Amino acid sequence: MTRSPLPSRTALVTGAASGIGWETARLLAAQGCTVLVHARDAVSARDAVDRLVAAGADADRLEPVAADFTRLAEVEELARVTAAVHPVLDLLVNNAAVAAPERHTLTGDGLEISFQVNFLAAYLLTRRLAGPLTARPGSRVVNVSSSMHRTASIAWNDVNRARRYSRLAAYAQSQLALTVFTRAAVPADSNCTAVSVHPGICDTALLPLYAHEGDPAADGAAHVVRLCDPATDIRPGTYYDRTAPSPAAPVATDDRTVRRLCKLADRLVARAA
Ligand SMILES: NC(=O)c1ccc[n+]([C@@H]2O[C@H](COP(=O)([O-])OP(=O)(O)OC[C@H]3O[C@@H](n4cnc5c(N)ncnc54)[C@H](OP(=O)(O)O)[C@@H]3O)[C@@H](O)[C@H]2O)c1
Repeated sequence: MTRSPLPSRTALVTGAASGIGWETARLLAAQGCTVLVHARDAVSARDAVDRLVAAGADADRLEPVAADFTRLAEVEELARVTAAVHPVLDLLVNNAAVAAPERHTLTGDGLEISFQVNFLAAYLLTRRLAGPLTARPGSRVVNVSSSMHRTASIAWNDVNRARRYSRLAAYAQSQLALTVFTRAAVPADSNCTAVSVHPGICDTALLPLYAHEGDPAADGAAHVVRLCDPATDIRPGTYYDRTAPSPAAPVATDDRTVRRLCKLADRLVARAA
């Protein structure tokens, strides 16, 4: 068997119970990474690890971790425990996402569910893990976003979209926010690089948002893992469409928008605390 190009790296993959996240965890483990396999609760995380081991992954390289992203307090706790156990983190793959429901839905933190799960939880996790992520040169944050971010706008005065709700607009807004945040996800002068990626249209639970047919989740994961590979040159803040750098929505490259979003996210996180 050919051995990993990524020896002894530690990766946290969110939303790794299924789909692209599970395949990403599988591929990273096969490359020799220690993988923190995140799911919404401990039972799902254990189950994901068991399925990875059944698929050939080395059990010693897998750690189940849990947090329900509809609860920001659980995201805080995940970051706290991760930083305590892993003061060096080489990779963070912000992959977890939920389709915005048909009906407008708020989390217990009072935020529209897709905005919180798909963006704000990733924002909080990345911010809280800044220490471990900048502890060793060459670390990376890969935000799994979507081409749908291009159809979106951020409703600055009604980010919960309480006044005029559409599930596609809410989901697209969450993807745009994640893409915008990528440019400020890690300090510019750090050794850590953050990028975002559209993984392609894949046959997962989220497929109905996009199309009737999609590629296998493993294909999407391969694009994500390629960006995790130190052998792949990546440009800070860049948006990739599968393998190629691609123009993000114009607002995603606007410094004022990046600052405004981070300020909003800080306020929402503080309010929920
Ligand atoms: N599939 C596509 O065609 C496509 C296209 C463009 C972008 N993407 C992006 O790809 C990424 C992966 O999605 P996927 O297609 O692989 O769909 P998926 O299989 O549904 O994966 C999403 C993961 O996020 C987890 N998640 C959802 N709500 C959560 C919560 N409250 N707390 C913690 N975890 C939660 C899910 O866990 P549960 O199973 O417990 O809900 C699931 O494991 C997403 O960021 C998505 O936006 C997908």
